[in-house]
Amino acid sequence: MKKVLIDCDPGIDDALALALAAGSPSLEVVGVTTVGGNVDLSLTTANALALREFLQFGDVPVTPGSAGALLRQTVRATDVHGPTGLGDVVLPAPERGPSEGHAVDFIVETLRAAPGEITLVAVGPLTNIALAVRREPRVVEWARDLVIMGGSFTRGNYNPAAEFNMLADPEAAAIVFDAGWTVTMLGLDVTLSALVTSEVLERLRPLGRLADRLLVPAAQFYGVVTAEGGPAIHDACAVAYVLDPSLFTCVPAVVNVETAGLYTRGMTVTDFKLRDRRANALVATSVDVKGFWELVLGAYEGLADR
Ligand code: BDR
Ligand code: CA
Repeated sequence: MKKVLIDCDPGIDDALALALAAGSPSLEVVGVTTVGGNVDLSLTTANALALREFLQFGDVPVTPGSAGALLRQTVRATDVHGPTGLGDVVLPAPERGPSEGHAVDFIVETLRAAPGEITLVAVGPLTNIALAVRREPRVVEWARDLVIMGGSFTRGNYNPAAEFNMLADPEAAAIVFDAGWTVTMLGLDVTLSALVTSEVLERLRPLGRLADRLLVPAAQFYGVVTAEGGPAIHDACAVAYVLDPSLFTCVPAVVNVETAGLYTRGMTVTDFKLRDRRANALVATSVDVKGFWELVLGAYEGLADR
């Protein structure tokens, strides 16, 4: 059983990543923390709470964290995820509220209590993770691993240079990459390869309430599905990596996050030539797309049967 703490900003693909985790019996989700990102913190938290109950996460704590970026004005992605953050998806109102306290404290205390056991999976802006590192630098040793969805070594999506999660808080991302651990980076280079094609969509459709209320409307809101392509479900790649790292090719690199560039703020400048430097990242460069979908669809099917 692998233990994960998921820091997220749901977000359509965050929701699909949480569904993957919920449908994977080999994962134990020890907590969900939220951050302002795709939409405001109040909405990412409300969405996480609704998802906890819809996806039958039981009593997994949901703890809200940072509302905005560390230093500068942040960006939102309502153009991609809609005003609520979940597109056309409307889930039943949750009965239970968030946990007391702040996500940063939750992250620090949860890792402190189980050193070496818990993988942090961060699929939103890295504000909470950066603050956790600043508050207690030993989280770097205590985390079993840090796996993020963010960045790219080739391109951006918010603009030509920057991927959304990095641009939303570049200073936080820089702190996280400089903290002394090896960040496993699932960037756009791989997430844009694993697309919801019409073949995938047809396999989602029969999955009952899970499909009708979440998977199908989420996928369709997120992009146009065709035989050749469709939307990427970025954040699910980070959970898939934890479940089966062999699906991805990862290469050690030095990643620096640009914080000062006029046109390149948020860019993950990735150098695969290490020379005498320590790699601060393991960067995913390719994904077994067929294997990825078998993993994801298998988990969704298992969840739908419950
Ligand atoms: C990332 O940005 C967000 O909009 C998604 O939820 C994902 O985490 C993709 O660039
Ligand atoms: Ca996200």
